[in-house]
Amino acid sequence: MKCKAGVIRGVEQPWSIEEIEVDPPRTAEVLVRWTHAGLCHSDEHLVTGDFVPPDDAMKLMGIESIFPMVGGHEGSGIISEVGPGVTSVAVGDHVSSSFVPSCGRCRYCSRGQQNLCDSGGGTFLPGMITDGTSRHRTSDGDLKLFAKLGTFAEYSCVAESQVIKVDDDLPLDVVALVSCGVATGWGSATVRADVRPGDTVVVVGIGGIGINAVQGAAMAGAKRVVAVDPVEFKREKAMEFGATHTYASMEEAVAPVTEMTRGQMADKVIMTPGVLYGDMMKLGTGLAGKGGTIVVTAIAPMTQTESSVNLFELAMWQKEIKGTIFGSLNPRADIPNLLSMYQAGTLKLDELITRTYPLDDINVGYQAMRDGENIRGVIVHEGGA
Ligand SMILES: NC(=O)c1ccc[n+]([C@@H]2O[C@H](COP(=O)([O-])OP(=O)(O)OC[C@H]3O[C@@H](n4cnc5c(N)ncnc54)[C@H](O)[C@@H]3O)[C@@H](O)[C@H]2O)c1
Ligand SMILES: [Zn+2]
Ligand SMILES: [Zn+2]
Repeated sequence: MKCKAGVIRGVEQPWSIEEIEVDPPRTAEVLVRWTHAGLCHSDEHLVTGDFVPPDDAMKLMGIESIFPMVGGHEGSGIISEVGPGVTSVAVGDHVSSSFVPSCGRCRYCSRGQQNLCDSGGGTFLPGMITDGTSRHRTSDGDLKLFAKLGTFAEYSCVAESQVIKVDDDLPLDVVALVSCGVATGWGSATVRADVRPGDTVVVVGIGGIGINAVQGAAMAGAKRVVAVDPVEFKREKAMEFGATHTYASMEEAVAPVTEMTRGQMADKVIMTPGVLYGDMMKLGTGLAGKGGTIVVTAIAPMTQTESSVNLFELAMWQKEIKGTIFGSLNPRADIPNLLSMYQAGTLKLDELITRTYPLDDINVGYQAMRDGENIRGVIVHEGGA
């Protein structure tokens, strides 16, 4: 079949809307009609080149380029066709994407760490998770799919392990947001940082991820949730999602956090800026006190290997720095759980969507993200839901 898709052909190039051809699903695959796609910063890293593996890594993977690639990993849609052997979804089911697959059998899935599933390792490799062959192409050759999902396409063929059935009566726009931004931010606070009642938590960077770290920290009972972002609109939004204090920069937060904690500093610091650079870690780790935890959720350029952490304080103040993918949640358990909290009225999702765009305006949407105008922009594909 043929459809439209947002494709990236190289670093520093805009998303181009192209006609693509999609093959029918084979064993353990599904064809999804994506109705919504969230404009997460992770796709922007392809545009800036932060997400482009260095030459030696590409050589190891046996590929020359990660382009051309269909973008999009935050998504929701409706199952349009199922391949042989698919049992967890049927045609017509509403689904959330899951940028981390869950095979259910690997070492990590079987010990409750689906976010680390082995089958997620091949994100930049061409072809399907299932058999390595390609189902998507344009007239000039095969396409890769970002995170093997490609939710910037109206239709894509993905592994069954990357879709999760959701209730039919849920609005599909908010389902898309839960598939990455909400889960990642909320899990960064509640699971990876393990925010406890009474904690002081600092969240650095209030986009689609950080705002949900604020929301998660507040739900977990933090006494103070300090939101840091240079954009005033983001700081105002953070207050609506449970922040108690806001500052325009980490530098500006140091003195008030020192004062409000009587010098103890934060229990948890969650790093969610659009791009993480090594020098940000000096202030980020400095905002955490004795026994403090610093969670690194934001993505740094792939080649970033230096960071300015005070190693004396790391040992003597017994601090802990932790990375996280997908907020260390299990997509199969936690995506439905987060959506059930929305249904129960305890998790805010509608308020996360600042603007919606047709696919043709994807570059307008990403410019709004760069300009700090959106908590989340969402693409509504033609036909919608
Ligand atoms: N670990 C994961 O599994 C995972 C999943 C999704 C996204 N991410 C990453 O999380 C990060 C955030 O994504 P997003 O979609 O929320 O981005 P976004 O662009 O929507 O928001 C980032 C925010 O950070 C703010 N910011 C930038 N520099 C700052 C600084 N020095 N101090 C304070 N605030 C600053 C910006 O003003 C903006 O409001 C990205 O790096 C993204 O790739 C990681
Ligand atoms: Zn994302
Ligand atoms: Zn697995």
